[in-house]
Amino acid sequence: MAELAIAEGPLLEQILDATHEIWGEGLDRRAHARYYTAQLATPWGRARLSRLALVDRGDVRASAKLYTFDATLDGRAIRVAGIGAVFTQPAQRKRGAAKELIERLLERVSADGAYMADVALLFSEIGPDYYARLGFVPVATSEQQIRVIESTRYGAPATWVRGGDDRDFAVLAALAQTRAEPFRFHLNRDRDLIQYAIAKKRLLAGLGPAGARELHFFAAEEGSSAVAYVVVGVNRTASGVVWTLEECGDRDPTGARVGAILQALVARDPAERRPTIRGWLPSGFRPQQIEIVGEAPAHEIMMMKPLSPAGEAAGSLCAEDVMYWRGDAF
Ligand SMILES: CC(C)(COP(=O)(O)OP(=O)(O)OC[C@H]1O[C@@H](n2cnc3c(N)ncnc32)[C@H](O)[C@@H]1OP(=O)(O)O)[C@@H](O)C(=O)NCCC(=O)NCCS
Repeated sequence: MAELAIAEGPLLEQILDATHEIWGEGLDRRAHARYYTAQLATPWGRARLSRLALVDRGDVRASAKLYTFDATLDGRAIRVAGIGAVFTQPAQRKRGAAKELIERLLERVSADGAYMADVALLFSEIGPDYYARLGFVPVATSEQQIRVIESTRYGAPATWVRGGDDRDFAVLAALAQTRAEPFRFHLNRDRDLIQYAIAKKRLLAGLGPAGARELHFFAAEEGSSAVAYVVVGVNRTASGVVWTLEECGDRDPTGARVGAILQALVARDPAERRPTIRGWLPSGFRPQQIEIVGEAPAHEIMMMKPLSPAGEAAGSLCAEDVMYWRGDAF
């Protein structure tokens, strides 16, 4: 019988060899490996990220990443097992390997004191049907296309914007908590998770080809601490520049400072073609300086499965009930 093992050493190499082609994100094979191991070396990654493999006589059959998050569901503190990068080695497909892996992984996280998750969460890239058969239920979320409204005179607004850094994380966590409170489901984003999310995007930009990706992390300050921030991933492709609003936060409930930071970022280079900005904006968060020019169901389908009574939602969740930043999808 195949065993469920932590994917390290030669097992991890087998997985990275096989997944590089579809999830390499433009990195070469060595950088693809470094991208993962460097995430594991962050404080959050060390405690909360692992990779498990279904192994038969030294050969990986299927593998997945496991993330453990603290979250809130209907006012209850819960633990979430995030399942990502579900992958069956090509020669092993269609023989139930991924199903067995997911079922055994869920058994482990429901029973094991170290994880003890209330909910399993994933983002399906292959539509909802495969995971629905394993008991996961889709949560409709949408992705917005955003245009930043610029003043006709072109130029940065009078907002003091500086690069964000480590000393901001505690403040950002407090902003996140206040913003998330009214939502039925959200992650409890602490300092370490915010640092991890930003580090991960920085790693991707730094390990990839020069100029292809960048990460903008900017804050607006009042007194001596940040009162708003944005994290924007910039991806330059042959067909244009795409910005992803990975996350943002603002002490102002209307998000006016986030809007002003985005205006300042867009105005930095007036000659450059205006980027398409994509993001998962929480319901009701619509800074006046932005316009939603498109909205469509998110390509990665959020799906959840309760694993304990605390993980049972009080009625189905819809987009308005969930606050989840694009940068936290896995
Ligand atoms: C999706 C994947 C993990 C399934 O692995 P597997 O071990 O072959 O899966 P199982 O044997 O448990 O199940 C096979 C079923 O999955 C279905 N399936 C495979 N790929 C699928 C896809 N892209 N979309 C929908 N269903 C898919 C098969 O059609 C098959 O259906 P059947 O039982 O009706 O014949 C595997 O095809 C894979 O690694 N794909 C590339 C990576 C990927 O896309 N991962 C999912 C990320 S969310």
